[in-house]
Order: sequence, then C-alpha cells, then structure tokens
Amino acid sequence: MTPDREAILQALEQVIDPELRKPVTELDMVREVTVDGGHVAVTIALTVAGCPLRSSFEEQVGRALGEVPGVKEVSLSFDVMTPEERERLTTRLRGGVTQRDKGISLDASTRVVAVASGKGGVGKSTVTVNLAAALAQLGQQVGVLDADVYGHSIPHLLGISQRPVLVDRMIVPPVKHDLKLMSIGFFLDDNGPVMWRGPMLHRALEQFLSDVHWGELDTLVVDMPPGTGDVSISLGQLLPRAEVLVVTTPQPLAQEVASRAAVMAQKTNMRLLGVVENMSGDVFGSGGGEALAAQLEVPLLGRIPLDPRLRECGDAGEPAVLAVPRSPGAAAIAAVTEEVVARRPGSISKALPVLG
Ligand SMILES: Nc1ncnc2c1ncn2[C@@H]1O[C@H](COP(=O)(O)OP(=O)(O)OP(=O)(O)O)[C@@H](O)[C@H]1O
Ligand SMILES: [Mg+2]
Repeated sequence: MTPDREAILQALEQVIDPELRKPVTELDMVREVTVDGGHVAVTIALTVAGCPLRSSFEEQVGRALGEVPGVKEVSLSFDVMTPEERERLTTRLRGGVTQRDKGISLDASTRVVAVASGKGGVGKSTVTVNLAAALAQLGQQVGVLDADVYGHSIPHLLGISQRPVLVDRMIVPPVKHDLKLMSIGFFLDDNGPVMWRGPMLHRALEQFLSDVHWGELDTLVVDMPPGTGDVSISLGQLLPRAEVLVVTTPQPLAQEVASRAAVMAQKTNMRLLGVVENMSGDVFGSGGGEALAAQLEVPLLGRIPLDPRLRECGDAGEPAVLAVPRSPGAAAIAAVTEEVVARRPGSISKALPVLG
C-alpha cells in the first residue's frame, strides 16, 4: 500500500524543534513531502545553515514516520529558511507582532529619561547611574541603557562585568543594585573604539533594543552619546517618548550648550525636561546651569556640588546615592531625582518653583 499523505503530515506533528520547542509543522519548517511507493522523502527548512540539530530531526522524523502504515523507507534532507521565512517565524513566535512594528520592547507606560550634555566629561554617566539608583530606591522598577557608544562607562560605574544572557532569542539584561542594565559595550569586543557607521549603529541599536527583555519598567534612564550625531537621532526614533535632562557645568557657556541641546531635542523629537548643573563650586565659575535653563526655558532641576565621593563610588562600581547617601553629591542627586519624579508627564502637580 502507498502511505497516506495526510497521515504523514499528521505524524510530522510529533517532530519538535528542540530549540523552539514547537512542532515543525506549526513552524512551517516542512518544505517538501514526496511519496513514492513505500519511500517517503521529507525536506525540513532549518532556521540557520549549519544548525546543530540535524541529528535530532533525523531521529525524530524516522521514528514518527516509521509508525505510519505503508512507510518502508524515509529519507530526510535539509534546506535553510530564507530571511523572509525567518522573519515570519520570529513574528509568529512573538505572537504576531513583527519586529519592525514592535520597536523597543518597552511597556507603553515606561517613562524614558535621556541624560544628555553639550560636551563630554560633565558628569552625564555619574548622573545617569545615581538618578537610576535613586529612582530604584523610591521603589521604582528601573532600567539603565548605556547608549553612549563612544564611552559606554555604565557597566563600570555599576560594577557589572557579566554579559547579558540569551534566552530564546531574548536578551536578558544583567541586574545589579536592582537596576537592569543594557549597554552596547556588551556587544563590542574588548574596549576597542567604535567605528561603525551610522546606519549600522542604528540597526544594531534597534535590534538590541527590540530583543531586550526589560520586563515591566517604571523608568528607563538613558546615558546618551554626545552631540546630535546619528546615534542620538536613532535613539530619538526608537524612544520617541523620551524626556531629555541636560547636564551642564557651572561655567556660563549657556548659549552654546543651549543651542546644541535644543537642536538635539528638536532633531530627536524629545521633550526637554530640565537642566542639572554638575560640579558646582567656585573653581569652575557659577551660573551656568541657571543661564542654560533660562535659555532653554526649562527648569533648573538642581545643582550637584563637586564631591570626590561621587568619583570614588563610581570607581568602586557603587552608586553614591546607595553607598554614601548623606554625602553632599549624593544628597543633591536625590533631590534632583525628586524633581524628576514630580515632573512626570501627565502627573498632577502644581508648577514647581525654579530652583536656584
Ligand atoms: N559632582 C562631581 N564631583 C566630583 N567628581 C565628579 C562629579 N561628577 C562627575 N565627577 C567625575 O568626573 C568624571 C567625569 O564624569 P562622568 O564620567 O560621569 O562624565 P560624562 O559626562 O559621562 O563623561 P564622558 O563624556 O566621558 O562620558 C568622573 O571621574 C566622575 O567620577
Ligand atoms: Mg559618560
């Protein structure tokens, strides 16, 4: 007798992809079934060439089809999915949401606070980690995204050396001090300089953001790369709801920094939240934060004094707001955090007086 084609297809439902843990029939991996007398030939399309699961498929197909009446001989060959087939597959695995639709895998209710500056070395990363840690201390679920592809110092500042784990194609961020961290530095070899071009970086950012399993976050704090370059614009597209917090030094260079920050916010469609003056003290002059806030017509959210403990804690991988909460630097950042919380979009709060 000639085996029944329907029976063969039904038997193939028992063949499970060992990684995706679903039947090959459901995953559209069965490409061809030919029946020639008692000889059945099956072709299975693998997700990637050189997939190490061939022997498992061979064993399973042999066993499943061996039970179908009339089957005397089974041959199995492999093919590889086209990129379109792969995309259909991952879409299906994600529950019908395509990657492009999905964008960044953040909850709609997650607030995104992007920490930016007009120039380097003003304490952007220090503010990022301490703001994030202070928000977590207030009971929020907080993620930190180190998007400063040129600096990526956040893993060091949080004392995180382990890399993210891949589970079923989801990137699971490492956690420290109750903060989930994702850094592009995790995906670069050693500490070599980043020389990717804009479009490549955009795709990399998009992919690693959409595949990151953030879970339910209240706030994502982003350490932005300097300037208005490709990366900032990409992030603006990927994180359209972001609010920008501009860190500046006390030198009254307001005009220049202000125009840069304004251009950045405009180019990236982000809303300016306010200004934080860092390294306040006499050495660097004063009034920079105030002048910048006035120029941008946003509030000055606070002044963080020069405090060696902010640097020491950073070097030790421990946010100062956790390690030495009473130090002047940490206390100032805690106060800034309260201002940030009070200015949550849509929150019912009276207009707070501008500090300073
Ligand atoms: N208020 C402060 N008091 C003392 N040291 C500070 C203060 N803020 C930041 N620092 C120190 O200044 C240095 C630069 O800070 P940080 O790395 O946070 O700046 P950044 O703007 O992220 O720099 P980059 O542009 O290199 O990414 C660090 O050594 C940090 O510990
Ligand atoms: Mg930095």
